[in-house]
Amino acid sequence: MEKVVLAYSGGLDTSVAISWLGERYGLEVVTLTADLGANDRDLESIRERAIKIGAVKAIVIDAREIFVKHFVFPALQAGALYEGQYPLATALARPLIAKLLVDAARDEGAQAVAHGCTGKGNDQVRFDVAVAALAPDLRVVAPIREWKMSREEEIEYARERDIPVPVTVASPYSVDQNLWGRSIECGALEDPWTEPPSEVFEWTRDPDVAPNEPAYVEIEFDRGIPVAIDGERMEAIELITRLNEVAGQHGVGRIDMVENRLVGIKSREVYEAPAAVALHKAHQALETLTLSRDSVRFKAIVAQHYADLVYNGLWFSSLHQDIAAYIASSQRNVSGTVRVKLFKGICQVVGRQSERSLYNHALATYDRGDTFDYQAAEGFIKLWGLPLKTQAQVQMLGQGGDMPGIMPPKVSYREKSGG
Ligand code: ARG
Repeated sequence: MEKVVLAYSGGLDTSVAISWLGERYGLEVVTLTADLGANDRDLESIRERAIKIGAVKAIVIDAREIFVKHFVFPALQAGALYEGQYPLATALARPLIAKLLVDAARDEGAQAVAHGCTGKGNDQVRFDVAVAALAPDLRVVAPIREWKMSREEEIEYARERDIPVPVTVASPYSVDQNLWGRSIECGALEDPWTEPPSEVFEWTRDPDVAPNEPAYVEIEFDRGIPVAIDGERMEAIELITRLNEVAGQHGVGRIDMVENRLVGIKSREVYEAPAAVALHKAHQALETLTLSRDSVRFKAIVAQHYADLVYNGLWFSSLHQDIAAYIASSQRNVSGTVRVKLFKGICQVVGRQSERSLYNHALATYDRGDTFDYQAAEGFIKLWGLPLKTQAQVQMLGQGGDMPGIMPPKVSYREKSGG
């Protein structure tokens, strides 16, 4: 009998898929559930459910550390925010799960892998493309994309086969979460004019009822990686978990956006990512202190490419390898501490310091101790303005002097008459 390794979340779709893969394709199903720090899941009961429904084996992997080290932190160092906002929690998890599926398929001697993505989203692309890159010989089956059952038919299918229907089925929202963030879609959110109902949020307090006193948090980075909070060094998972809690308490981390999916659809997405939002802000602030102007500008361009590449499922590409090498190299001086203030939904950077800081007080100050060379400034300005002066003399002045959109027509003044 041929075998398939199915990425199993324990939800209705993938539970039904266990039976369906057997019935439709005669495949033996091994399930794989990756723990990426989604804090709502009882992994042991997920494993039992898989076996009860008919999986021949149920694998559970704690992949939190790999996720943070190889996916989350590099994306943080890159400054990767899709379309300027989304910290990519879901998108970063997909290539890792694909890799785990492929590894498990090899271990189990499977000929196929399967995932529970619909035919409309980005996730199917990320899985399929990643598996094709890692193991082109493996077949990818996407039951939900294929079976064309309505929600009601699916529940009926489950009932007939004694497949437990999780309570979350009543929820109109589609949620994906891991320790880097929570992605929420569907239901009332499909109307971009509708404010997200409070029930969609689980990690963040409504800023209206967040504490009336701000919280200050000091985040220390070592070469672009957060290593301590308020002077206390801690493991990455704990650091992110703690930041999710404290920032979430203050209502920080809600993102409400219309984003461009790879498959051509605009989609209204709501995210909760308290730690990711706070860390990106802090990290960026530290870069403003420790990177040169040119590096900051160039890195912003790279960051956008990197975010697109991750979002579009090209994790296992050589372009990514090259960008990753640049990102890692760019971080060698990004060490120091940033103080953020969390208050009523806002995360504001209010302090930053670094031994590698390029901020030079003696150069910047307007007070005593100023070492800036004012005479050099005069010379600099002369040369800086030289091409402009030359051009203006030849091409602008004395030629009507009007440059549409730049220069207003000559204003004639009238003496103001009193009263
Ligand atoms: N739009 C986001 C992305 O493509 C989130 C997807 C969320 N997935 C889900 N099954 N709810 O990365």
